[in-house]
Amino acid sequence: MSSVSQRKTVTIRDLLAKKQAGQPISMLTAYDASFAARIDATGIDCVLVGDSLGNVILGHDTTLPVTIADMVHHTAAVRRGLEHALLIADLPFLSYSSAEQALRSAHRLLAEGGASMVKLEGGGPMVDVVAALCANGVAVCGHLGLTPQHVHQLGGFRYQGKNDAAQQLMRSEALALQDAGASLLVLECVPEAFAGSLTAELHIPVIGIGAGRQVDGQVLVLYDMLGITTGKRPGFSQDFLAGHGSIQAALQAYVDAVHGGVFPTEQHVLAR
Ligand code: KIV
Repeated sequence: MSSVSQRKTVTIRDLLAKKQAGQPISMLTAYDASFAARIDATGIDCVLVGDSLGNVILGHDTTLPVTIADMVHHTAAVRRGLEHALLIADLPFLSYSSAEQALRSAHRLLAEGGASMVKLEGGGPMVDVVAALCANGVAVCGHLGLTPQHVHQLGGFRYQGKNDAAQQLMRSEALALQDAGASLLVLECVPEAFAGSLTAELHIPVIGIGAGRQVDGQVLVLYDMLGITTGKRPGFSQDFLAGHGSIQAALQAYVDAVHGGVFPTEQHVLAR
């Protein structure tokens, strides 16, 4: 691994270059400055301040109660811990229902929180929101598949894209988000082969979580990969702290495994 001090700040151009070179992109969530600094020291590409903070930090059952004030607060903390990784922050539930509202929310995450990119969930009407954000200079990451902010519409935290019709819809939404200017796409809990064919079709990098091995990169929730999430750990995740002597070693093992193409393995690929 190259020395961290020799690395410059990661940009969306670096992520695109990694996709084009077939080099896996690494991402983890973080919510505070201390973990951010530990994660940054591994040589990771991106850190996401996920609205999963509603679950793992605040103890809610869903991400719906997370507010823009929560996201700004935690994004600013993570920013203070980072030097190199690209910082992405989630737009929380109902903070981007119109282009105007999305611009106000994104402004807070970038100007007050110090994020370099915002992530939002869904296709359909979100395409116009993405276009408005991009037209105003905001870098955007889309999120399709299992979109936790839509938990009640989806009828639970359920695997997505199970049939041809669902895959066709997701494919057209992904292409529309890309055409609207999105720079990155997170795909959550979809079949591996579908994720692979969509990744090949899109020119923007695709980061998977429970989407198998044929995507451009991987993201996990920090507390899942440290094995400290309460309840059942998702089958696509792995407890990297088990077998490693310290949090720093566990974080390094995850990033090295993603960069080396050895995480995820077949055992992490979800059965439909
Ligand atoms: O909120 C989050 O942590 C996320 C990841 C699961 C991708 O959106």
